[in-house]
Amino acid sequence: MIQTSLKESFKKSNYQLAGHGKRNIHVLKEAFQAVDENLESDLYGEGKVIEEFQEKMASILGKEEAVFFPSGTMAQQIALRIWCDEKGIRKVAYHPLSHLEIHEEDGLKEIHKIESILLADKNRVIELEDVLNLREPVSSILLELPQREIGGQLPSFDTLEQISAYCQENGIRLHLDGARLLEVLPYYQKSAAEVCALFDSVYLSFYKGIGGIAGAILAGDKEFIQQSKVWKRRYGGDLIGLYPYILSADYYFDRRAHKMEQYYQSAKELAHLYNSCHGISTLPIDPVSNMFHVHFQQPKDQVELVLAEVHRQTGIGLTSYLKEIDEKSCYFEVSLGDLYADVPNELVQVAFKRLNELMKQHFLPL
Ligand SMILES: Cc1ncc(COP(=O)(O)O)c(C=O)c1O
Repeated sequence: MIQTSLKESFKKSNYQLAGHGKRNIHVLKEAFQAVDENLESDLYGEGKVIEEFQEKMASILGKEEAVFFPSGTMAQQIALRIWCDEKGIRKVAYHPLSHLEIHEEDGLKEIHKIESILLADKNRVIELEDVLNLREPVSSILLELPQREIGGQLPSFDTLEQISAYCQENGIRLHLDGARLLEVLPYYQKSAAEVCALFDSVYLSFYKGIGGIAGAILAGDKEFIQQSKVWKRRYGGDLIGLYPYILSADYYFDRRAHKMEQYYQSAKELAHLYNSCHGISTLPIDPVSNMFHVHFQQPKDQVELVLAEVHRQTGIGLTSYLKEIDEKSCYFEVSLGDLYADVPNELVQVAFKRLNELMKQHFLPL
């Protein structure tokens, strides 16, 4: 077997199954192509370009107002700070694998002195019981839909309604980490506004399923948004002009928001193909959004060789990386986007046939 690094073989593949394509300058150019050259920049959070986009998003999310942020990290720390100030309680509850807990260098704790209470076991989503079992007062609870670090799993919509009702009755604010909110709507068979109605505040990202450059929207009632604008200024989030992010967010939102059903169906189809291969399983087995994780109960370096060989022999790129879980297991994440529909189906079938054969060849005991 010729040894090519996974990243290299993926780069050289003719077709890639996940995502919308390369994140390069073309993404920016395409978004700006049809924009009027006389359109004026926003200025420190004000102006037509930002205000109109904020109004559009507030209306789609069914909230009174919305504010555009350069990042979700900034938006969510601020949202939780506002809820803590309102309640006079510096505690928030969320999943142990929440973005705030594992990817933000403890911003919430270091900047705001807010303590996190971890709900649920890290391998599953938060259920009503976890909320009922909270033994200490919290200002707010954050729910992430879908729960990215466990393959994008979701609680049932009934559970969301019950948690929301409990929070309302008990004076707990409910915040939605909806980085991938649009991606879960086909599964729930709900509109964005119907899901957001269960939450006091909501964050949505523009560079995940939507495929924009960067940026986030935070939505809620007037008072909440007014305060979040003050915090955005304190954080340095009021760039003199955010229009490159806003225009691209708006462009790709319009281009892709209605395609989430397609991505979801592609994810189910692709997960089925992975699950049909020897020694491979997806988490969840049946995706509930456009994403899932692909797990191998084999050492990372050995799986890398197999995947690189599939890339090289079939021209189909499955992944550029693997993450080690322990010495004997590894995984990678898949988020379906525009690319999958352009890959000839017969080539996909050939790639998975080859993957299955190589997995058997390498890992079936003799
Ligand atoms: C679930 C979730 N929440 C929040 C964020 C933060 O978003 P940003 O990268 O815009 O700060 C991310 C980013 O990956 C995310 O996946």
